Amino acid sequence: MTSRKKSSYIKATEFLIQIKAILGKSLEHEALWIFQQVLGKNDISDLSLNQTQIRRIEAIVEKRLGGKPLQLLLGQYPFRKINLKTQRGVFIPRMETEMMIDLIPNDLPSNIILDLCCGSGPIGLSIKKEKEDLVVILLDISKKAIKLAQRNARMNNISIDIIRGNGLSCFKDNSFSAILCNPPYIPISDKCNLPDEVRYYDPNLSLFSGKDGLDFIKTIATISFTKLKNKGFLCYEHGDNQAEKCRNILNMNGFIQITSYKDMAERDRFTSCRKP
Ligand SMILES: C[S@@+](CC[C@H](N)C(=O)[O-])C[C@H]1O[C@@H](n2cnc3c(N)ncnc32)[C@H](O)[C@@H]1O
Repeated sequence: MTSRKKSSYIKATEFLIQIKAILGKSLEHEALWIFQQVLGKNDISDLSLNQTQIRRIEAIVEKRLGGKPLQLLLGQYPFRKINLKTQRGVFIPRMETEMMIDLIPNDLPSNIILDLCCGSGPIGLSIKKEKEDLVVILLDISKKAIKLAQRNARMNNISIDIIRGNGLSCFKDNSFSAILCNPPYIPISDKCNLPDEVRYYDPNLSLFSGKDGLDFIKTIATISFTKLKNKGFLCYEHGDNQAEKCRNILNMNGFIQITSYKDMAERDRFTSCRKP
C-alpha cells in the first residue's frame, strides 16, 4: 500500500495522516479508531509503529476499502461505557443508537425495563451498566443475536436476563415500566438502495419490516400498550422519514406525550411516548 524500508519505524501521527488520505473523505473518521484498536491505546500521539503494526493497519484498511464494515473487521465496537463483540449474522450496533439511553425518564412507575429486539445487546447492556438499580430484560428472535448478547454481557461483567422470543407475546400484561426498541424498520423495496455494507453484512431480519417498513412498529405499538404499566414509557428508533407516521401510530393506540427526537445529524430518528 505504501513504500517503506522494511526496518523503519514510523510515528503514529504521521502514518495516521497517510491512512486518512487513503480512506478518503467518507471514511477518514474511522482512521483513529483503527489505530487505537491496533495499538491498544486511546492516546496515540507519542507512539511509533513497528512493521507488524503497520502491516496490520494496512490489512484492515484494504479490507475496509473493499466494503467490509469496520466493526466486523475489528471484531468489536465501543458503545457508551461498554465494549461489544460483533459477529457476521448479527446486526452491527450504530453510534446513533447511543442517544436512546439518555431519553429514559427518571420518573418511571417501577424499575423493570425491556430492550426489545436487543441484537448484540447495546441498549439493554448499557442501561444495566449505567443504572444498576434497574432490572433490565433483553429479548430477540435471533438465536445468533441472543448468543452474542450473552457473550457481551459476560465480557462486560453484567448479570442480566437475555431471552429468545418473538415480539412481546411471552410477557404478562402490565409487566414493564419502559420498553426500548430499535426494530427492523426499512421498507423491503429499499433493499437495492442500501449501502453495500448494510445490504451484505446486516441480516435481513434486523432490517426489513413490510412494504412501508412500519409493520413491526405498528404491531408492537398495539401490544406494548397492554404490556406497559400505567405511566410506562415506550421509545422506538426509526427511519428519518418515519417520525410523523410513528407519532400517528402511537396516538391511534392511546399513548400520550408523544415526542420525536433528532440524532446528531439533525435527523428525526427516535419517537417516545407514555401510557396514560
Ligand atoms: C435493527 S436490529 C437492532 C439490534 C440492537 N438493538 C442494536 O441496536 O444494535 C433489530 C433486531 O430485531 C430483531 N427482531 C426482528 N424481528 C423480531 C421479532 N419478531 N421479535 C424479536 N426480535 C426481532 C432482529 O433479530 C435484530 O436483532
